[in-house]
Amino acid sequence: MKKIKIAVLVSGGGTNLQALIDAQKAGIIEHGEIAVVISGNPDAYALTRAENAGIPTAVVSKKLLGGSQEAFEAGILAEIEKAGAELIVLAGFMSILSEDFTARFPRRILNVHPALIPSFCGKGFYGLHVHEAALAYGVKVTGATVHFVNEIPDGGEIILQKAVDILPGDTPETLQRRVMEEAEWKILPAAVELVSHDLLAIENL
Ligand code: GAR
Repeated sequence: MKKIKIAVLVSGGGTNLQALIDAQKAGIIEHGEIAVVISGNPDAYALTRAENAGIPTAVVSKKLLGGSQEAFEAGILAEIEKAGAELIVLAGFMSILSEDFTARFPRRILNVHPALIPSFCGKGFYGLHVHEAALAYGVKVTGATVHFVNEIPDGGEIILQKAVDILPGDTPETLQRRVMEEAEWKILPAAVELVSHDLLAIENL
């Protein structure tokens, strides 16, 4: 059976990438396969996770490209094309992609965000900052969202969300971990399977 080839873009630890790798092995993702892992950061541990799983990797560093967004995105695009990827997953990818880039892949870029969009999202809300903001506001429930990526940061159509309770004594770190375990690592693989399945169905019409 043909599978949808996936490029996963990462920047750091890569626990969401690991969730995708594990879901692929477990058959939870059956209509897609990770064809390449692309990191914006040469030191990302996510690269080691990919290598351990036998998945090809590429590093495209904006810094090494003189800080140009255009060159950065051209580099990413070249790796996506080289791998033949038809679906792009931002799994802890900390750079914002331009409209030039996102417009090339309508409904073919997914992102996981560690809050219930439209809360605590948009420019400046990434990684631990999101959980700091949720705790500072005093909300009692947070969660994670997987959505399609368009030109508005965290503004594309929502695919899946899952709520997570905030507990007394939570720190940004304990909350981040609970949101990952209870929400992100479940809804990201589920959304990747949903979208891969739909893309294949359309191709087979
Ligand atoms: C995750 O919590 C992810 O949702 C978040 O960064 C963390 C990356 O962890 N992404 C964003 O904030 C993007 N706006 P990981 O590298 O272990 O997957």
